[in-house]
Amino acid sequence: MNGASQMETSLASDSAGVTAHQEETFGLGVYARRGLVLCRGENAFVWDAQGRRYIDCIAGHGSANIGHAHLAVTSAVVAQSMRLLACSNVFYNDIRGEYLRLLLSVAPDGLRRAFLCNSGTEAIEAAIKFARHVTGRVEIISTFRAFHGRTLGSLSATHNPAYRNGFGPLLPGVTFVPYNDSAALVKAISGETAAVVLEIVQGEGGVHVGTRDFLSTAARLCAARGALLILDEVQTGFGRTGRLFACEHFDLTPDILCLAKSIAGGLPMGAVLCSERITMPPGSHGSTFGGNPLCCAAAYATLQVLLNDDIPKAADEKGAYLGEILARLKSPRVREIRRLGLMVGIDLREKVKPYIEKLQEAGVLALPAGPTVLRLLPPLTIGYAELERVGTALEEVLHG
Ligand SMILES: Cc1ncc(COP(=O)(O)O)c(C=O)c1O
Repeated sequence: MNGASQMETSLASDSAGVTAHQEETFGLGVYARRGLVLCRGENAFVWDAQGRRYIDCIAGHGSANIGHAHLAVTSAVVAQSMRLLACSNVFYNDIRGEYLRLLLSVAPDGLRRAFLCNSGTEAIEAAIKFARHVTGRVEIISTFRAFHGRTLGSLSATHNPAYRNGFGPLLPGVTFVPYNDSAALVKAISGETAAVVLEIVQGEGGVHVGTRDFLSTAARLCAARGALLILDEVQTGFGRTGRLFACEHFDLTPDILCLAKSIAGGLPMGAVLCSERITMPPGSHGSTFGGNPLCCAAAYATLQVLLNDDIPKAADEKGAYLGEILARLKSPRVREIRRLGLMVGIDLREKVKPYIEKLQEAGVLALPAGPTVLRLLPPLTIGYAELERVGTALEEVLHG
């Protein structure tokens, strides 16, 4: 650790209790906290206020696919911050134009234009609005266990009552079918359906991978019945599953693709990629910060890293490696391991919370996905040695 980092860590250590107190006192209290004060990150590691290092398999809730503080991103952010930070969407902007061009050059077939926003939930909100506007229909079909965000439109397409209760009435016209049940889709999609909204891998819902049959049935029926297919790749996008976009595994061409999380190396940003069918007149939608130059500069640098270093391929290989390590766990506590690329769910036969706490004590940060699933979303740039360390920590914790 260099001198500056040492000083930062000791200052932070003195103030760790103060920080926690401030957040507890002045924050609204909507987050269940873990007790840690994180002060620094580098690739797949984060450090707490006491200078303790953790392997970060949370990665900013999946927003740091290329690792923390990637030099390409930090230098792009510094350079852009000295040129232009705020630019209204009534004006064109150089980096925004460049980013749109680059993003659409690697987008799945048929996606030609994009609306830039600031988060995953906003991307879903926009997609629902676009679908209603374009089709003139109201009904949206979502799935059991789906998570699409917490603002009212996205929340309406989110299934878990724990997120929904107390906020109604939500949007009318939203129905849910069991995930991976193609027959249910056949019954549900009609001439009244504006859109079907799907995750390729359900993240918050427990890391359930979509089947080819289910996803292609959705695409086929949407096309046949005039509905739009909205794919929510907020969590699966930007290499997470071993392809730049998870829909590439299934040769799917959505009408709308929603992106966020790792789009801009950790900065807040979202994007809604649209096929030619989506036409929206001026004034029909907008955002003050959407396509902000700073975020576009970060997103441009992030996408270049993803492409130049072939990070999706690395995620595929590292995911397979981690999969082999996990297959050897053989703990009676493990019911099932589900994985696509470096998006991993370890479904336990018991509540997951104590194991997440023990892993944290062992120096590995992991997420839950529902009550029994331990979710790993490490940066895709994580080293093989760290993946082994994650395996060892899991072994200790699950057998202990
Ligand atoms: C699949 C999916 N969609 C939407 C969202 C909402 O994204 P945000 O938290 O950026 O609003 C999330 C967040 O976890 C997500 O996993």
